[in-house]
Amino acid sequence: MSTGTEDEAILIIGAGLAGVSAAESVRKAGFAGRVVLAGDEPDAPYDRPPLSKSVLCSAEALSNLELRDPAFYAENGIELKLASTAELIERDSRRVHFADRTSVPYKKLVLTTGSSLRILPILPPGMPNVFYLRRLSDALALREALPQTCRMMIVGAGVIGLEVAATARTLGIAVTVLEAAATPMARAMCPTMCDFILGKHADHGVHIRTNTTVVNVDRFGAGYRVTLSDGDSVDTDVIVVGIGVVPNIGLAAAAGLTVSANGIHVNEFGQTSDENVYAAGEVAFHYNHRAGQMDRQENWLHAAAHGEHVGRTLVAGGPGYNEISGYWSDQFDFSIQSFGMPKGDRDVVRGSVTNGSFTIFHLVGDVVKGVSSINAARDMRTGKALVRDSARIPESVLSDPSIDLGKWRQSAMTSPAV
Ligand code: FAD
Ligand code: APR
Repeated sequence: MSTGTEDEAILIIGAGLAGVSAAESVRKAGFAGRVVLAGDEPDAPYDRPPLSKSVLCSAEALSNLELRDPAFYAENGIELKLASTAELIERDSRRVHFADRTSVPYKKLVLTTGSSLRILPILPPGMPNVFYLRRLSDALALREALPQTCRMMIVGAGVIGLEVAATARTLGIAVTVLEAAATPMARAMCPTMCDFILGKHADHGVHIRTNTTVVNVDRFGAGYRVTLSDGDSVDTDVIVVGIGVVPNIGLAAAAGLTVSANGIHVNEFGQTSDENVYAAGEVAFHYNHRAGQMDRQENWLHAAAHGEHVGRTLVAGGPGYNEISGYWSDQFDFSIQSFGMPKGDRDVVRGSVTNGSFTIFHLVGDVVKGVSSINAARDMRTGKALVRDSARIPESVLSDPSIDLGKWRQSAMTSPAV
């Protein structure tokens, strides 16, 4: 695309992380036309990770959530259209209609509509003392309930469930977590990591019940008596549900774009089945060059990198998307980081699991495809470089904490024998 005349517009629907990153990068790439960033939430674009962490227990965290300084939008000529739900894409006339009866024309459209929460039918949002967590308003509602809460039940031991469990427990609340699968965080973790997390939560008094879910809920006092799938029943004051998300494909599907349960299908440049419509971030089922396959990622790093890539390449061209994504999670006194594949054919541990500071390298064949760590920032930095390089390093070296991996790699690369 040319860098645009003033009457041409790039319209971005979804004012989350991917949307902001896309808006910023089309400007950085030199686009001179109109840029409109429209979102259905009333707040200026904010960061979601603190919602299940500091926002629940710290007043300070609330004043620090904005993704960009308020002046950023005016300074970069980005029109923010908040509290505006896009309802219809008219692809023939290239115009998007909003619920507030306004419409915006576009030359190029970028869909960054993210995900919505999976709902447990037996516990629909809106039930008293039942909480879900995606938006700032959700976090504020839960935060308000915490001081009156003695017992909390959490459904789902994923990232959200376990972060809320850690926060609630730190506040002195008795916490039971129900997990339908055999281990917590199993989607994103190798078995050693799952065991460590389970153990840590148990040490802090969080009661995680795996292979268990909710089968019935009755009002009991101000709270609930919950019947579990194993026949037990547990009384609780509040229930938090964190059972995953689904991509927001409705707008794209209604416009006839290619979508599936995996998201909006896009190529390596984020382009949908319509050459003038793109998608980025958590909603996009995208082609990743490095992985050599289609992929959808649910993490901060990917939303930022993919939004940036799609915005830049739609204006200025360039190579296809090939970033590696990863995520972090903070629980109690430990910080989980993961980069690349979260589990491999073999998972090689470096450091002490018992002492709570270790790194795990995930190998496919003899290639380092991913790295995860607990409280091991330095090894993580080196580990990321190894993943980026698809390094081949002997297991005996990876697992020996007395060997400086950075230096070992450096000398191996300069040695004529390697
Ligand atoms: P979203 O953030 O979902 O933004 C999409 C926006 O589009 C939303 O504002 C949505 O309301 C809006 N929208 C949707 N449909 C329409 C429409 N029709 N019209 C207008 N607007 C629309 N990741 C990590 O890596 N580490 C973490 O520790 C971590 N913690 C998290 C904690 C919580 C509580 C949550 C919810 C997420 C966390 N994540 C974490 C994930 C990370 O925040 C997401 O991957 C990221 O926000 C995705 O960005 P996105 O812009 O693609 O989508
Ligand atoms: N009962 C109990 N557990 C369930 C049920 C159920 N009916 N259904 C699903 N689960 C469990 C899953 O087995 C999984 O362990 O809920 C967990 C959900 O974990 P995630 O998929 O990680 O989803 P969640 O923790 O809700 O996080 C949602 O927010 O932080 C981001 O990146 C994260 O994209 C993710 C999103």
